[in-house]
Amino acid sequence: MNLIIQLFSFALTFFFASKLLRRKQELKLNEPPLVPYKYPIIGHTFDYYKDTEKFLNKCVEEYGEIFSLYIFGKIETFVGSKLSPEVFKNDKDFNFDIAFKEKFPLERFMNRTDKYFAPLPRILFTYLSQELPAYTERVQRTLIKAINEQIGDGTILQPPLKTFQLIIARPIAASLVGEELSEDKELVNTVAFASSDFIPFISIPPILNFIYPLLHQKFVVLLFKLINNPFKVHREVIKRKISPVVEKRLNDMKRDKESYVPPIDILQKLLELIIEDDYKADIDVLTDYIITAIFAATHTTSTFLTNAVHQYANHPEIQKELLEEQERLLGFKTGPYYTTEQMETLVKLDSFFRETLRMTTSIVFFEHKVLNAHYTFSSGHQVPKGRHVTTRLQEVHRDEESHGENPDEFNFLRHLGNPASRVEKHYLAFSFGKHACPGRYFAANEIKNALHYLILTYNIKNVNEEKAVLPIRGPFKRSSDVGLIFEKRKDINFCN
Ligand code: HEM
Repeated sequence: MNLIIQLFSFALTFFFASKLLRRKQELKLNEPPLVPYKYPIIGHTFDYYKDTEKFLNKCVEEYGEIFSLYIFGKIETFVGSKLSPEVFKNDKDFNFDIAFKEKFPLERFMNRTDKYFAPLPRILFTYLSQELPAYTERVQRTLIKAINEQIGDGTILQPPLKTFQLIIARPIAASLVGEELSEDKELVNTVAFASSDFIPFISIPPILNFIYPLLHQKFVVLLFKLINNPFKVHREVIKRKISPVVEKRLNDMKRDKESYVPPIDILQKLLELIIEDDYKADIDVLTDYIITAIFAATHTTSTFLTNAVHQYANHPEIQKELLEEQERLLGFKTGPYYTTEQMETLVKLDSFFRETLRMTTSIVFFEHKVLNAHYTFSSGHQVPKGRHVTTRLQEVHRDEESHGENPDEFNFLRHLGNPASRVEKHYLAFSFGKHACPGRYFAANEIKNALHYLILTYNIKNVNEEKAVLPIRGPFKRSSDVGLIFEKRKDINFCN
């Protein structure tokens, strides 16, 4: 008994000593300035969420490029255009995924281990983004069908996001699980709304973190498991719809062996990844991969398509020049669909889209967690292990040196010759570095196709000629609810 007590006391002493030692080491670091705050525990939380842009601008004015704030019970460091490239380039020191999963523990929701979905980005990049020509016709065919169904001879979309989600969902479904399933209304609905239906669930403010770090994460995982939430409903739809398709493919593969001609889509690549020797595959694993891809793909793409159409309506002065470019390409159209090379000639549309991304991304983003004992920035400032370092994204996107003069103005020709999908240290719409969005070529291509057809087919205006300004919630921007009027052009007819 005595020995146990002795061991226990020793362990306790060791535990506190090592904590104190670590704290001492942390204290010795040359940390970025911690902006003073009035209220203990609450720290900067209210000031930061009340008007993030104004508050951060004031902090930058007073403390410069790097500083720390005390938000929701933890110290968070903020960097701007000078130091943020270091965060994206040093993936051994900073990790986005771990920080993101503290708020949105997707793997835990699905009872999967961390990094379970690690192969997905590679599969999407290799077999979707790098194989664009294989999807070009399919994307155009399904987009045209969806635009005809949703907008037809003209309509008013108020608010527009939901309709754009339904439009975007068709080519995404066709590319992820095959064109046949992209005709299935129930599945398309799931692809369209799986992530946005879930947003209220993941937007619960992490107030529990005031009590204990990561308590919020534990709470959302518990809540997720206890209640029947939209994620579970959408997951069930995906599983039910892909099951017969997967079963047929497995039977065909077993029968045809080497002569099997595989369908071109992401489901097939995932199937090949997990197939077992006896031509069996775990349908739950496939379902979880597909829903993860849908989460990454649809809401982002439809939000930025909505933003782009609003920017087009906001700026009547650029419409003639953009329309001329679309009409020129239409003049060269020989078959029912454009080739990938033909779409690449739409350089003004591409620059317009890149400008939309630059101007409409959130105020801050990309919280990264420090992985090693500490990291020393080139400025000499040091951040300890476990610290979250966040990028002042809007500031990076409005940096005059990188983006040219009048960076606060929307200039649709600003990026001519610099494609929307090209990631750069000061253009972070698709992130930068090792974890840059693997679907970016596909997304940019899909959005440009949609814009091309929309601009050619309709005169587009904002309802009441109102300017669409993005609503801001804390540091995040969402697409505007301002209505869009689509009036079918009488002098042109090809979208059918
Ligand atoms: C305009 C549309 C899109 C934007 C702006 C966008 C943006 C981003 C950004 C900023 C990231 C990095 C961090 C994060 O998860 O937030 C990312 C990651 C990712 N995106 Fe996209 N994305 C878009 C469309 C797509 C599409 C269409 C797909 C799939 C077909 C996709 C698949 C992914 C995946 C799988 C990741 C995780 C990459 C990793 O962890 O290494 N995205 N995207």
